[in-house]
Amino acid sequence: MNIEEIRKDFPILNRGIIYMDSAATSLTPEPVLDAVLDYYRNYNANVGRGVYKLTQIASQKYEDAHKNVAKFIGTTANELIFTKNTTEGVNTVASGIGLKKGDKVVVSLWEHHSNLLPWIRAKKTLRIDLEVVKPNDAISEGDAKTQCALETSDFVDAIDKKTKIVAITHVSNALGSVLPVKEISKLCAENNALLLVDAAQSAPHLKIDVRDMGCDFLAFSGHKMLGPTGIGGLVIKEELMEELEPLTVGGGAVEDASFADYRLKQSYEKFESGTPNIAGAIGLSAAVAYLEGIGMEKVKAWEEKQGKRIIEELRELDNVEIYGYGSEAFEHGQRIGVVSFNVNGVNPTEVASRLDREAGITVRSGHHCCIPLMNYLGLGSEGTVRSSVYLYNTEAEVEKFLDLIRKISNS
Ligand SMILES: Cc1ncc(COP(=O)(O)O)c(C=O)c1O
Repeated sequence: MNIEEIRKDFPILNRGIIYMDSAATSLTPEPVLDAVLDYYRNYNANVGRGVYKLTQIASQKYEDAHKNVAKFIGTTANELIFTKNTTEGVNTVASGIGLKKGDKVVVSLWEHHSNLLPWIRAKKTLRIDLEVVKPNDAISEGDAKTQCALETSDFVDAIDKKTKIVAITHVSNALGSVLPVKEISKLCAENNALLLVDAAQSAPHLKIDVRDMGCDFLAFSGHKMLGPTGIGGLVIKEELMEELEPLTVGGGAVEDASFADYRLKQSYEKFESGTPNIAGAIGLSAAVAYLEGIGMEKVKAWEEKQGKRIIEELRELDNVEIYGYGSEAFEHGQRIGVVSFNVNGVNPTEVASRLDREAGITVRSGHHCCIPLMNYLGLGSEGTVRSSVYLYNTEAEVEKFLDLIRKISNS
């Protein structure tokens, strides 16, 4: 992987920044911008609703985008709907699977608010039972507590015959830790429970094979994987397409309509009423082509190398606390390059501000949309500092970041 060549595709990097906040949103390479502009410049038209040439080109490109993005995550176009983002994907499932009083929903302690609030709402409005899987009590003190480990065994008691759906993150955005979703999918199958995977943090960094994973739904966001904002995807297992109620109904989704009733299409169009984000979908398709061109294995290996260095160097600093698994977890597929930490006695927001002020390094600080997890870790809303690398970060950038953290931790 030639980082210097890759960096040429991200001219924003020439503006004196070291971008280490890709877990929040990734940078957008030139081929993605070109694809978006090409749509607006050369074949700007609505999709699926006309006979003229321009709309046919736009429709074809939009359909191709469905196919390409679906293939990227191991499925086919008929199982992928385009959404606004992961949040919309999760909400589509939470509101569409017909939850009713007494149904049980299982989530984990690691969930981002986007895969938590929709289920809390269902608890409040429909009176479902919501169970949160937390680390084993026996290891919830000291170092083990900051690791916040979750394994398949922790889910065994929670997933039972009353469970309608298990909704879990594949990778924690706050810890960088990976959940064994394939193993958990077996527990779901044994109990006839559905499985929703929040892949917002995994689809950009790991090779996803949605069929092999064994889940029923998988949600992800384009803007975290080199695509534009406002576009994401939700995989819906084909046999569930019919029973899942769409979040919205309207134009483009209907087979037939009268003043009394309507009949929805039975394809992804059922879930994409209204004019979709055509340019966004085309941009996302270019983003997955870009990632495929480099190879997800290479992307993963590069990030792991940088993530490992960050963890191992931070670990040398007496007054730095790291959250999530240690660097050995990379070897077991339990970690990605997102690193959450705190410098004792320095507010995480102050650390992030100093990184920005003194070296143009962008990292996130705060609760990372995981307030319950931060409370569990005893961090309140101050949260942590979070660095997140991607394919465009260099070793020299990581070194600069580490140098400054060393300085901050010594001052
Ligand atoms: C694990 C996880 N889930 C869900 C989301 C929500 O993504 P979006 O804001 O794109 O809907 C995020 C965003 O940070 C995330 O990291």
